[in-house]
Amino acid sequence: MLVKLTMVDGTLKAVNTKGDTIPFNGRGSAKGYPTLWKNTAQKAFDEGMGFELVGDKWTKLTNKQLDRKEADMQISVDLPKEQIELMSFINTSVDLRPDTMKVSDIKWKYLMRCAMRGKNIMMTGPSGCGKTMAAKSVVSALDRPDFYFNLGATQDPRATLIGNTHFSKETGTCFSEALFVKAIQTENAVILLDEMSRAHPEAHNILMTVLDESQRYLRLDEHEDSPTIKVAKGVTFIATANIGNEYTATRVMDRALVDRFIIVEMDLLNKDEESELLRYMYPNIDQDSLLAIAGIVSDTRTEMLTESPRISTHISTRASVEMAGLVYDGFSIEESATVLIYPQYDNAGGLDSERTFVKQIVQKYIPNSSNTEDLFNVEDSEEPAE
Ligand SMILES: Nc1ncnc2c1ncn2[C@@H]1O[C@H](COP(=O)(O)OP(=O)(O)O)[C@@H](O)[C@H]1O
Ligand SMILES: [Mg+2]
Repeated sequence: MLVKLTMVDGTLKAVNTKGDTIPFNGRGSAKGYPTLWKNTAQKAFDEGMGFELVGDKWTKLTNKQLDRKEADMQISVDLPKEQIELMSFINTSVDLRPDTMKVSDIKWKYLMRCAMRGKNIMMTGPSGCGKTMAAKSVVSALDRPDFYFNLGATQDPRATLIGNTHFSKETGTCFSEALFVKAIQTENAVILLDEMSRAHPEAHNILMTVLDESQRYLRLDEHEDSPTIKVAKGVTFIATANIGNEYTATRVMDRALVDRFIIVEMDLLNKDEESELLRYMYPNIDQDSLLAIAGIVSDTRTEMLTESPRISTHISTRASVEMAGLVYDGFSIEESATVLIYPQYDNAGGLDSERTFVKQIVQKYIPNSSNTEDLFNVEDSEEPAE
C-alpha cells in the first residue's frame, strides 16, 4: 500500500492510493493498519516524502518514488487477466520443481515461461548433467498431455516419426501412423525429443518443418505434394542435446535445426550444490564420504576449466549420484571410483595418463590411503604404479 501525505486546511492527512485516510497514532488499528505516528508523518511531509506499507512496517519513500510505484501498479492493473495469471504461475513455479532436481531458479522459471509460451526448447550440456531429468520435470510440472521420444535410440526415424506402410494380401497396402503423428495433433501437448543430437540425420530432416514457427507441419513423405499434418495449437517441443561435447556418437546438428529452438544450457553443479544433492538423495551416507565425492567431482570440473586440462571430461552428476549409491551399499570411495570413475578415463600413457591423474584426485580425498605415497612420488618410482 502506498500512502501520500497532504496538508488540508492546515491539517496533515495520510491518504492511500484507494483514497482511504489512514488515521495517526494507532487509531487506524481497527482497519488493520499498523501505527503511523503523526510526528513521523509530519517529518516525512516536510522532507517531501510518503510511505509504503511493507509487511507491517511503514517505509519512507520520496514522492517521486511513490509516483513511479503507483504508475507500475497501474500497469499491472491494466494487464489482461491471463497475463497476470501467467506471470504469477511463472513466479510460483519454483515450487513445482522436484527436490531431487538441481537447477537454478532463474533457469527453471525460464523453462516454465518458454513452455507456457509454446516455444521450442532445447536443453544443452554434457552427458549426465540433468538435461533429460529437467525436461521430464518441466513436463510433469505442466499438467498437459505429454509424449516422449528418444531420438538417440531410433534407427528408423521415418517409422518413429511418421509410420509404417504394411502390405497384406487381404487388405492391400495400409499405413499405420506413428505415435508422433498423434502427439503433434494433440492440443497443448508437450513433446519431449530426447537425445536430439544423436538422432539420425533423417530425423532432423523430418522435424525441420514441424519445428519451424512459420510452417509447423509434418510431411508424410518426401514428395513435395504429399499430404501434410498440421501441428495443433499450443504444442510445445522440448529437446535435449549434447552440444559441444566430446562424444563422437553425437552427430553434428544442422545450424538451421538448432535455430528453431530456444537454447537453455544446463549448468554444472558446484561443490556445494553437488553435496547438497547427494545429501538429499542419500541422507544416511556419512558426511566425509559425501564431501569426498563432491570434492572429487568438482576437482575434475575445475580441471576442465583450466587452459590445458589434463583430462578430457569431467565426472558427471549422473556418475556422482551412482557413486553415492555404491557407497550407500557399502563400497568404499576407492572401490566405487575403481568400478565407476577410472574406466571412464584413458589408461594410455601410464603415469601421464588421464586415469593416473584422476586417481591422484581420488587419493587426495581418501584418508590414510596406502597408495597416496606411490602416486604422489611418481617421480621417484621406477616402475609405473599401474
Ligand atoms: N542437475 C541435476 N540435478 C539432480 N540430479 C541430476 C542432475 N544432473 C544429473 N543428475 C542425476 O544424474 C542422472 C542422469 O541425468 P540425466 O538427466 O539423464 O542427464 P543427461 O540427460 O544430461 O545426460 C539423473 O537421473 C540424476 O540422478
Ligand atoms: Mg539424457
